[in-house]
Amino acid sequence: MSAADVAVDRQRLPRHVAIIMDGNGRWARGRLQPRLFGHKAGADSVRDIVEASREIGIPYLTLYAFSSENWRRPAAEVSGLMAILQRYLEAELPRMLEHGIRLRTIGDSDRLPADVRNRLQKTIAATSHNSRLTLTLALSYGSRDELLRAVRRLGRRCQDGSLLPAAIDETMLGQELDTDGMPDPDLLIRTGGEARLSNFLLWQLSYAEIYFTDVMWPDFRREIYYQALADYQSRERRFGRTGEQLQTD
Ligand code: IPE
Ligand code: IPE
Ligand code: MG
Repeated sequence: MSAADVAVDRQRLPRHVAIIMDGNGRWARGRLQPRLFGHKAGADSVRDIVEASREIGIPYLTLYAFSSENWRRPAAEVSGLMAILQRYLEAELPRMLEHGIRLRTIGDSDRLPADVRNRLQKTIAATSHNSRLTLTLALSYGSRDELLRAVRRLGRRCQDGSLLPAAIDETMLGQELDTDGMPDPDLLIRTGGEARLSNFLLWQLSYAEIYFTDVMWPDFRREIYYQALADYQSRERRFGRTGEQLQTD
């Protein structure tokens, strides 16, 4: 199925789609398989959704791959996830270069294993000139952690006298966040049936349209993605105004 079949208007695409990729474990359990089996299948969904985003022309895609709270999972699952990430990055670099995909990350990457960090740095450097799609992986990411790090940096500047507290505005705080330079997400998708944010982009999602689906992440492929995009296009984004104001603006 193509985007045309689901009537996605390419002129009104979200600039930035963010996705909470949830449900790998339950998907695997439903098949009497270990959780890592689900994470591996999830990596195939990542490939498909990245490719579909690039094809249809979405410029920013941000994927929640590992939260600051996911460090609490069993050590074997954490190291298995890191190994899948490492393999994904190795395997995908040629395609990223060929297709104009730029990689970046958000989150506290200092906590990631050294080999993953090195591979990320190499991939980010190698793809830094690409501009068709910015693929951001949220790794060891927590929105509260990100906000705290930003507030501490601003606090230090106030303390050393180079910044007045009253001069701090939304733009300045936004520039201190890991997402500096990216537009806020227009559309947030969460797979896996839960209707919560799980500490993802709390500041940046203020006015995002939210699409929850019961589909587990390993089953979330481009046909369902196009449905989410079409649903997004059916919504009226009012940003605090009235519907009547939008007609006359
Ligand atoms: C999402 O799937 C992947 C990560 C959080 C790393 P889960 O592993 O959370 O899958 P469920 O929610 O247990 O099914
Ligand atoms: C959110 O999923 C984090 C990622 C998808 C990486 P979780 O499975 O960790 O979220 P909770 O624990 O159900 O809120
Ligand atoms: Mg989960």
